[in-house]
Amino acid sequence: MARTALVTGASAGIGERFAHRLAEAGYDLILTARREDRLNALAQTLSERFAARCTVIPTDLAEPAQVQSLLDRLDRDDLQVDFLVNNAGFAARTSLVASDWATLQREIQVMVSAPTELMIRLGQRMVERGYGNIVNVASLAAFAPPPSGMLYTGIKRYLLDVSQSADMEFRRSGVRVTALCPGFTYTEFHDVQGTREQVSRLPGIFWQDADAVARIGLQAALAGKAVCVPGRFNRVLAAVCDALPAFARYQLGRRGRIY
Ligand SMILES: NC(=O)c1ccc[n+]([C@@H]2O[C@H](COP(=O)([O-])OP(=O)(O)OC[C@H]3O[C@@H](n4cnc5c(N)ncnc54)[C@H](OP(=O)(O)O)[C@@H]3O)[C@@H](O)[C@H]2O)c1
Repeated sequence: MARTALVTGASAGIGERFAHRLAEAGYDLILTARREDRLNALAQTLSERFAARCTVIPTDLAEPAQVQSLLDRLDRDDLQVDFLVNNAGFAARTSLVASDWATLQREIQVMVSAPTELMIRLGQRMVERGYGNIVNVASLAAFAPPPSGMLYTGIKRYLLDVSQSADMEFRRSGVRVTALCPGFTYTEFHDVQGTREQVSRLPGIFWQDADAVARIGLQAALAGKAVCVPGRFNRVLAAVCDALPAFARYQLGRRGRIY
């Protein structure tokens, strides 16, 4: 019987490519994001190309009630999740002083509360069954010095740490949790953030293809890796950042931000 994967943020970028790679690997898919038209088009492509059975559940993860509705729908339709990809995300651009609380709250809900709730509630069921995979899409930013006035790096650091804590506990029951930490990736992320012009000045060595990130992330998850930084250049950056003493991280962070 085919196993089923739930991908959040499947309407674009890394999530959409993850859905392709999972379908290619034989998984049926539960696709979620806000843009239903894109999810329906993706579902059609995946069913035609890979014969994957796809269920589309439009959800705004910034609304806690909609996260609950997503979980209720899985129960009601008896949809078992064997592979969870907590991928949906965005970064607010404005400074903390200039931000309205509602925007920051959405960032925390979409990238902290929702993935944590899905990881724990669906992870508990995987532990009961004795198998399963969870990928939390963090970021290379989790290793980077924290820049001035942003929640994003702290949020991604949280995801990196909590993924490892969950993996240490769940692995005893045959369930693995992988923190996937991509560097700069060609997706809609920087258009949504409004930093496309700024980041496009970065040399090509910094950039990766969304499909490569998804492929490497899926391989790492199936191999049971707790942390995956795709790309040799990114792994060197992560190692260098990890080795920095706290005062150097702070001073580097103060010098400017590129996210
Ligand atoms: N691109 C990069 O350089 C990069 C680097 C490191 C890590 N990441 C991480 O990778 C993940 C995927 O980002 P991406 O680069 O693929 O960006 P993207 O192309 O902008 O895709 C973001 C996805 O998240 C979904 N999403 C955003 N807000 C949502 C909400 N409130 N409710 C439900 N879904 C929501 C979007 O769907 P809808 O708009 O249809 O809801 C979309 O499918 C994020 O967690 C990001 O932090 C990206």
